[in-house]
Amino acid sequence: MSEDKKVEAPKPAPPPGPPPPKNPGMVTMTIDGREVVVKPGTNLIEAAKTVGSEIPYYCYHPRLTIAANCRMCLVEASNAPKLVPACQHGIGEGLIVKTGTDKVKAQQKAVMEFLLLNHPVDCSICDQAGECKLQDYYMRYDFKPSRLEGPKILRNKRKVLGDLVVLDQERCVLCTRCVRFMEEVAQEPQLGVFGRCSH
Ligand code: FES
Repeated sequence: MSEDKKVEAPKPAPPPGPPPPKNPGMVTMTIDGREVVVKPGTNLIEAAKTVGSEIPYYCYHPRLTIAANCRMCLVEASNAPKLVPACQHGIGEGLIVKTGTDKVKAQQKAVMEFLLLNHPVDCSICDQAGECKLQDYYMRYDFKPSRLEGPKILRNKRKVLGDLVVLDQERCVLCTRCVRFMEEVAQEPQLGVFGRCSH
């Protein structure tokens, strides 16, 4: 009696890999409908600048590590279902980014409202007045009166941190750039943010 030969099913073809980059050695993507060609590893905020799209930010600084804690830089990206922080989200070949949609604008308004909720808005006596991103971004991205009912939360206006540094806790937006500067540039980690939220 002859044994039935088992016929192996043909193996499925491997899925096609990603298409080769349009510009070898570079990343090509689209920001606000314009094609952008940047070096791999470029930040989305910096990539957007090359085509004249301004993404607002507080905690990002090109010479510091990314904290992504202010959420002012959120944008729409084709590879994410929710808004993503432009300072942190990786770039990729063919990525489509939108920086000015209604969803993004609503988020920018919400972040400004949140940051200014308990801010004293004492601009007339502030050393930073006229060079303040809170002022600039309020005019550009929010520009509506506070909806806060009742008094603002008062914090320490003169917390002495040393011979040269006094912290105004009502004006600080906790971007942690000073903390990261001390750690990464001065290499003297002497500052931190403590007692935040439920911790
Ligand atoms: S700049 Fe991206 S979260 Fe602050």
